Amino acid sequence: MNAPRYLNLLKITLPLAGISSILHRISAVGIFVLSLPMTILLVFSLGSSDNFEQAVLFFENIIFKTLFFLFILGIFYHFVSGIRHLVMDFGYWETLSAGRASAMATFVLTGLFSFYLLYLLW
Ligand code: HEM
Repeated sequence: MNAPRYLNLLKITLPLAGISSILHRISAVGIFVLSLPMTILLVFSLGSSDNFEQAVLFFENIIFKTLFFLFILGIFYHFVSGIRHLVMDFGYWETLSAGRASAMATFVLTGLFSFYLLYLLW
């Protein structure tokens, strides 16, 4: 039998569209997990000006700030990549070269946005 006995994840080289697909799923899980705590903090911050001042203090914690950065970046990536999926669902960009180019475009857009986000947050 020629079926693989084990999978060495380090030896799997995914095409660009495959990497884009994995990142789409990872970003989905990330935004799902972080949505509730981020929403709770937002609602808390809108309660009073004292609450707002306390919520602002969260952003002095580097771990929280990094999570917030990843949350917003994850939403951005998931949104852009989601639009790419929807375009393909309508029957466009379905060739290998178009799929590769659109995957690269989502990476470039997310990369550019990450710089802008870094600039806003730090
Ligand atoms: C903000 C909250 C969101 C959450 C928690 C979320 C979560 C998810 C999850 C769990 C999946 C399945 C991923 C997988 O099986 O690989 C998914 C897929 C998808 N999401 Fe979202 N999503 C959100 C927002 C959006 C938005 C705003 C769009 C619009 C652009 C979008 C477009 C898509 C598309 C098109 C798919 C299907 C991708 C495919 O066919 O593989 N999502 N999302």
